Amino acid sequence: MAPQNDLISLLNTQRSGWSLARPFYTDPKLHQADLTHIWYKEWLFAASAAELPKAGSYVTLQLGTYPVVIVRGNDGQLRAFHNSCRHRGSRICSKPSGQSAKLVCPYHQWTYETDGRLLWARDMGPDFVAANHGLKPIHCDVTAGMVFICLAETAPDFAPVKAAADRYAAPHRLDDLKVAHQSRIIENGNWKLVLENNRECYHCAGSHPSLCRTFNDDPDLVGADDSLSSPEGAAHVNRCEAAGLPSRYLISETEQWRLVRIPFVGDAVSYTMDGKAAAPMIPGMPFANAGSLLFFHYPNTWNHFLSDHVLNFRVLPVSATETEVVTTWLVHKDAVEGRDYDLTRLTEVWEATNDEDRRVVEENQIGISSPAYEPGPYSPKQETGVIQFVDWYVQCLTRAVQAGQTAMAAE
Ligand code: FES
Ligand SMILES: [Fe+2]
Repeated sequence: MAPQNDLISLLNTQRSGWSLARPFYTDPKLHQADLTHIWYKEWLFAASAAELPKAGSYVTLQLGTYPVVIVRGNDGQLRAFHNSCRHRGSRICSKPSGQSAKLVCPYHQWTYETDGRLLWARDMGPDFVAANHGLKPIHCDVTAGMVFICLAETAPDFAPVKAAADRYAAPHRLDDLKVAHQSRIIENGNWKLVLENNRECYHCAGSHPSLCRTFNDDPDLVGADDSLSSPEGAAHVNRCEAAGLPSRYLISETEQWRLVRIPFVGDAVSYTMDGKAAAPMIPGMPFANAGSLLFFHYPNTWNHFLSDHVLNFRVLPVSATETEVVTTWLVHKDAVEGRDYDLTRLTEVWEATNDEDRRVVEENQIGISSPAYEPGPYSPKQETGVIQFVDWYVQCLTRAVQAGQTAMAAE
């Protein structure tokens, strides 16, 4: 049987409401299928726009085997390119981020404009046409202050998520925010375990003492899928909506992304140890206790938009059993560290939470790697978010593999 048929057979045996079979979390071949059919096809969160404040600001990332660079042009526009020189292929930008008037390849100094055009190449002869050797572009778009990229030749329609996320996030004035802090950790677990763990709070009481001071983990109040169907949840949504904050639970047709504004515990206004604000309120927010606007977009991001700061989370697979998680804290650009906010106070709850999540994901991976592992049932009360993610994953991968087979058959 062809490997693709094996994969379809395996996908067909997955049972909704149960964790996946072991190869999905451990097998390098399955990991390659994830890369080929999901990570190289879907829109991915790449960087916070605030990481690229000026013309010539750039951010790099490694997406499977593709090195990528995102750069702000002299026209202010953000563009993404394959970070591979059109001379002999060297990686051009090797630092995680930087600032450069032009992109200069370190190997033989071919020099590119920030819009990707090749400007200069030494001694290439009279027939050389620089216009034929510009950097290869990658689809790039921005919503809610977040830069998304897509490696596919034809990208899925980004317009629906862009329209919704821009509307929900507008009061948080993303264009006026700056990066206060960024953390980068590697979790020794498959990327789907990182996402699964994020999509439930069944583990919160046992793992997250500092987060639970402010984050509401009560499924009766927020709903395990954050649908806010309880009277308290609905009251929060109605109060926010009446003040001009889009807040109602909104999930896309394919369930790839979702927006909702949830309330915090009691009168808390931010993810701090005492629940009080960590930074000055973002102008545009009508009141401090607006809770958190949650935005996930599969396969690689979840986000919190608060009245005083914004948190972007970026997940990238490194291997079948390693995942990078980058967290970025954004505050209003006029806020001064030490005067208007204290960095420890701003970051301590999620620094601790990320580390706690890393540990549970790593233990989960070790247990799943045992030949004795078999899929187990998710809680229908506490883990509906995980069921939703895993169903999305199975359907997305199945569709993509079948589309690949159809394309091959037509050739
Ligand atoms: S490989 Fe980039 S200039 Fe030669
Ligand atoms: Fe967690």
